[in-house]
Amino acid sequence: MEGDIDRILIDQDGLARRVREMAGEIAACYPDEDTGLVLVPILAGSIIFLADLIRHLPMKMKLGMMTVSSYAGAVTASQDASLTRDLNIDITDQHVLVIDDILDTGKTLRLVGQRLRERKPRTLRTAVLLRKPSKAPPDVMADFVGFEIADEFVVGYGLDYDGHYRNYPHIAVLKPEKY
Ligand code: XMP
Repeated sequence: MEGDIDRILIDQDGLARRVREMAGEIAACYPDEDTGLVLVPILAGSIIFLADLIRHLPMKMKLGMMTVSSYAGAVTASQDASLTRDLNIDITDQHVLVIDDILDTGKTLRLVGQRLRERKPRTLRTAVLLRKPSKAPPDVMADFVGFEIADEFVVGYGLDYDGHYRNYPHIAVLKPEKY
């Protein structure tokens, strides 16, 4: 796997530091209310970010999963996002925080936002590890952003190319011949 990597953009120490900071920002936003908090990770790209983030969050919470597919071994947003697994938990009148790996074209979070608002949460916010500001459209905002990156396809720390590299511990760019 290491031989496929061209360069590391954010190493695992930098990721760990920023994820801990983000947890502080999120915790400051949610008092530990009776109604609790529901985190909605978008599978599968957010799994490592989620696992690291929630262990720094002190409040009571539930997890509800959603799966959205958009890329199938592609490096551009060639398809529209589609929901392949809907939320498995009631969020009516709950504080909902969507967790995603990256805000790229915004198609995924636009779809997820529409679906979740129909279910009448009390509040709806979004946390993303990465954001590509040159691509993200103005109507799709994230309330918490880990890092802003340039418009290049990245892998690692949960993000894949064609199903691989999710276990690479850093955020990295592949060698051009690997795409
Ligand atoms: P958007 O915002 O374009 O993002 O709907 C959709 C999903 O596509 C994946 N994505 C990426 N995956 N490297 C990846 O490994 C990237 O640079 C990248 N950009 C988008 C990701 O799963 C995101 O949720």
